[in-house]
Amino acid sequence: MEREPIGVVGAGWVGLVTAACFAELGHEVWARDIVREKVESLQRGEVPIHEPGLSELVAKNAGRLHFTTEMDDLLERAQLLFVCVDTPPTYSGDADLSRVEAVLRELGDSNEHALVMKSTVPVGTGRSIERRRNGIAYVSNPEFLKEGSAVADFMKPDRVVVGADAGSEAYADRVEALYEPLCAEIVRTDVASAEMIKLASNAFLATKISFINEIANVSEELGADVLEVARGMGLDDRIGPKFLQPGVGFGGSCFPKDVQALKQLAGNTGYHFQLLTAVVEVNELQKRRTISKLQKHLGALPGKEIALLGVAFKPNTDDVREATSLVLAGRLAGEGANVRAYDPVAGPKAADMLAGAQIADSALEAIDGADAVVLVTEWPEFGELDWTGEVKRRMRVPLVVDGRNFLDRDKLVEAGFTYEGIGR
Ligand code: UDX
Repeated sequence: MEREPIGVVGAGWVGLVTAACFAELGHEVWARDIVREKVESLQRGEVPIHEPGLSELVAKNAGRLHFTTEMDDLLERAQLLFVCVDTPPTYSGDADLSRVEAVLRELGDSNEHALVMKSTVPVGTGRSIERRRNGIAYVSNPEFLKEGSAVADFMKPDRVVVGADAGSEAYADRVEALYEPLCAEIVRTDVASAEMIKLASNAFLATKISFINEIANVSEELGADVLEVARGMGLDDRIGPKFLQPGVGFGGSCFPKDVQALKQLAGNTGYHFQLLTAVVEVNELQKRRTISKLQKHLGALPGKEIALLGVAFKPNTDDVREATSLVLAGRLAGEGANVRAYDPVAGPKAADMLAGAQIADSALEAIDGADAVVLVTEWPEFGELDWTGEVKRRMRVPLVVDGRNFLDRDKLVEAGFTYEGIGR
């Protein structure tokens, strides 16, 4: 079957994954980005982000994947234009839609194309565009990709959401057809509901994390073990086991931004979304709780040597947006501690965001002479360190704050470590 050509506007993380995966499904894909250097390196086959499996997919489908700086290349060849530009938060908390607006301007008054919105936009954006641009074909098709497993998430989605209002249904049918080979559950709705599904899903997952973090904090006081509690809760079908891992708070490019955006959107209508206000506040406090755990054992922190293991907001990505490491480095510097941070991929990228922390070349270098190790990101290599041997020998004080309950607590305690987990 002839597969229709596709345009992708914005070759960032979402755009690249979308482009590579549609190429893998047999489509000719034209991906456009305004950053010339990025396009040139993509044309050479170099993928500028760390995402497992993506480079391989780009290489494998090089014949069908075309990178360009010119919007006209897309407009001439494709009718479905997937908008994958970023929509960062502004200071007011509303999303910055200037890049979406720029795409609209470039589209002009074409009636030959459909905008398929993958970028996360406020609920109401589609309707507002439809109102302003009478007759435009507009389909909402939000992404639910997780960094670190985005390619797999695209190829095996839990669901595909396709939202269209009257007049755009034929294009929505075509978007739906693109996903047919994936045999996924398709949720067909109007545009506003599709936009809300995206924001509500992320806000719910963030709520789940803040909830278990609070259960963890209370468990610490009451002598319960949150890992047992989460297991016991998660076996209830209605609750489910996922996203019940307590930790040092959620970060990344989506949860913090989307929770804030939904709260703000509600606020703009005069509705006070109390629950999400608490979700955000719990997360901010959670990111800081490590400081008092360190003080409990070390007293005042001036001059203390603290090793941060992990800078990325989660493993398998080099993304440091809203990462807890940034908050911790700032707070520790504020308390007068000396910080050495190590991350398998994100260290150099984050160097100037870490409040003067030194970036170490290895975990052991960061740990050398430390008064405490804080495990911030659960990279597999941190589990493989020789904790009871080399690590312990190198530390001045064998104190570990395990911010992800990732290490073997019993083994560490037996070897003489002071161990602080989360919620146990
Ligand atoms: C998220 C959504 O999962 C995805 O559907 C959406 O499209 C984009 O946002 P991502 O930001 O890549 O994806 O990360 P995710 O794996 O969801 O984790 C987000 C944060 O929550 C991380 O900081 C992670 O450490 C934290 N987390 C996650 C917890 O603290 N506990 C958990 O149980 C799960």
